[in-house]
Amino acid sequence: MIVVTAPTGQIGSKVVRELLEHGRDVRVVVRDASRLEERVSHRVEVVEGSHGDRSVLDRALLGADALFWLVPPNPAAPSTLEHYLAFARTASGAIARQQVGHVVGISSAGHGWTKPAGVLSSAFAMDAEIQTSGADYRALGMPFYLENLLRQLDAIVSRGSFSLTGAADVPVPTIATRDIAHTAVELLTDLSWAGQEDLPVFGPDRLTPDDMAAVMSEELGRPVGYHRVSIDEYAAMLRSAGAPEQQVTETVQTFTAVDEGIYDADWARATPTATGFRTWCREVLVPAARSASARTGSHARP
Ligand SMILES: NC(=O)c1ccc[n+]([C@@H]2O[C@H](COP(=O)([O-])OP(=O)(O)OC[C@H]3O[C@@H](n4cnc5c(N)ncnc54)[C@H](OP(=O)(O)O)[C@@H]3O)[C@@H](O)[C@H]2O)c1
Repeated sequence: MIVVTAPTGQIGSKVVRELLEHGRDVRVVVRDASRLEERVSHRVEVVEGSHGDRSVLDRALLGADALFWLVPPNPAAPSTLEHYLAFARTASGAIARQQVGHVVGISSAGHGWTKPAGVLSSAFAMDAEIQTSGADYRALGMPFYLENLLRQLDAIVSRGSFSLTGAADVPVPTIATRDIAHTAVELLTDLSWAGQEDLPVFGPDRLTPDDMAAVMSEELGRPVGYHRVSIDEYAAMLRSAGAPEQQVTETVQTFTAVDEGIYDADWARATPTATGFRTWCREVLVPAARSASARTGSHARP
């Protein structure tokens, strides 16, 4: 039995689907079972509740061979570290009590970075806590999710522009969430691995923001340009949107660490995954842009 947390999220939902394709027995922990996709809901065991709740997780892990673990993002948490650690302590306790042998966790690339790195440091602290359970553990270490770009869909489609904080001519490490899920499923379906390690999971490209803009332009059939936002400008935008100061500080730490190269060592040692940026644009960005255009009734291509 493989237990999957966050099964309605963008990674967890793909993990569940792919495990079912492999014919595996899957149990999900979900706050609201009605949010599960219909095509999976009747094929999985369901434990309803939050995986941050000790009694829920104890029930979910009963007799489990392996666990897919993901702490839900909560940028507004008073302390991201405490948010991650609270979930991780619940996990480590339940994993140890229920004697789950193997755990695959969604962490971040950049293990070993010694300066504060906001949410990335919190993910590393989560890994250390989960390791106290004694289970064999793989902390998947990812850079920037390509799906983050979908938050800028409106700007990409209607204004022909997207923004990041990096320089236009410096390659950005990225990963498609389908490749994260696939890596997790490979580990969860072959439990011959042992020990506690982090595993960097990076996409195959080394594109700069300008290169990404060129690919998006070609695939969307309309010009898209890159507009760099400085970290200070981003912090000001967060403040003006009413974000708490803790969130601003942690975001600045994260972006600073990324600009200073927190991902570089892992990028150099990672085995590239399958989904390139052009494929992702064709199969995810373009369909999302089409749906957005249809929803808004815009005649804009695509
Ligand atoms: N974005 C990046 O570039 C990046 C890079 C590296 C690592 N990460 C990490 O990736 C993870 C995010 O993965 P994702 O994108 O798949 O997440 P997601 O799509 O936002 O999904 C979050 C999931 O958590 C569930 N959830 C939310 N609040 C919850 C709570 N209080 N208790 C229990 N479940 C809750 C949601 O389910 P319901 O709402 O249906 O209950 C949903 O299934 C985070 O840990 C983040 O740190 C992100």
